[in-house]
Amino acid sequence: MSVLNGKKILLGVSGGIAAYKTASLVRLFIKAGAHIQVVMTPASKDFVTPLTLSTLSKNPVHSNFFNQDDEDAVWNNHVELALWADLMIIAPATANTLSKMATGNCDNLLIATYLSAKCPVYFAPAMDLDMYKHPSTLSNFVALKQFGNVMIPAENGELASGLSGEGRMAEPENIIAFLEADLESKLPLKGKKILITAGPTYEAIDPVRFIGNHSSGKMGFDIANQAANLGAQVILVSGPTHYKAKNALIEVIDVVSAQDMYDACHLYFNDVDVAIAAAAVADYRPKVVALQKIKKASEEFSIELEKTKDILASLGTIKKNQFLIGFALETENEIENAKLKIQKKNLDLIVLNSLQDEGAGFKKETNKVTFIDRNFKIEPMELKAKESVAVDILEKVILHFSKS
Ligand code: CTP
Repeated sequence: MSVLNGKKILLGVSGGIAAYKTASLVRLFIKAGAHIQVVMTPASKDFVTPLTLSTLSKNPVHSNFFNQDDEDAVWNNHVELALWADLMIIAPATANTLSKMATGNCDNLLIATYLSAKCPVYFAPAMDLDMYKHPSTLSNFVALKQFGNVMIPAENGELASGLSGEGRMAEPENIIAFLEADLESKLPLKGKKILITAGPTYEAIDPVRFIGNHSSGKMGFDIANQAANLGAQVILVSGPTHYKAKNALIEVIDVVSAQDMYDACHLYFNDVDVAIAAAAVADYRPKVVALQKIKKASEEFSIELEKTKDILASLGTIKKNQFLIGFALETENEIENAKLKIQKKNLDLIVLNSLQDEGAGFKKETNKVTFIDRNFKIEPMELKAKESVAVDILEKVILHFSKS
């Protein structure tokens, strides 16, 4: 999946011949799963029509401070537009527009939006070769880079003037590739390896029966997807579940029993920077697994159980620099029990679920958790979607690395 998937992108189009290529660019953004809005300078409309770009972007195109066609003119709020965006790209960026960006000469909606943007800004210059090399243009590049804007260099090739050289706007495919590579290199968990456990475990009684639990695996998969979105390489050790990983950065290791999960986790743990135990591991398993299906011969029947190994506690004893996060599911004395688990399992952070909280627990879309760190700092969170809880958990991981 592209790192652009789900991103809100504001495309600023200025008036050069390369503006015709923005039709392909918008299509590629949409194909990558991005949401896109377009701001055009008045001059750019001579090269590509607003109708084309609004149709392809599936959004109205903005080019004036007011929508003059309406009887009651509507103000286009450039601040709102700029704050909406996760990323702004000005393509093509003509010499004129670059100069206005560098000096703050705010005489159109595109520049007003640019000056209001707080998100990362990229610009893809397009002009004739001598203009591209002119000291004035070069000093504008320097100024814009100093503002923190990222330049997508022009390419070599035939220019509209008939001359051939540097100055052609980068091809739409190359702009997309540039953005993806740049965004990926800046992801906060890039280079980190995270081990995550998810789902229930099944403990066999005989070839057809098992002891299991109601865990769906959603919380663990949400954490894995979010960690991968943030650039981490994820090893997801999962008990039986119907969830599928959504990102190529996630390697799923399917397991069934607590022992399988224990073995898989110990195989990978030494290599990871973070481990998050979101699985609902069976605490007990049948002492003896019948080789054949057990017949209903007697009126009463009991199974002798033995303890499974505590995976998280074991990881706690062998951990070196790994940041170790566990979950606790409690029904009474929640905080005290969770604090005991932090100590017993040598955790850095525990995510406490209380079944007393409405909306928390198994087979729910939402969760209400309380974070407790190893210094017993307690942070209760609001009830929210499990995806958002996953975001909160990974923010703790990012915070940890920002301090270390
Ligand atoms: N856990 C584990 N291996 C086990 C049992 C639990 O790795 N055999 C992990 C879970 O994934 C979770 C944490 O330990 O992150 C807490 O699990 P929980 O069942 O709430 O607590 P237990 O330690 O099993 O204690 P108890 O059941 O007595 O509350």
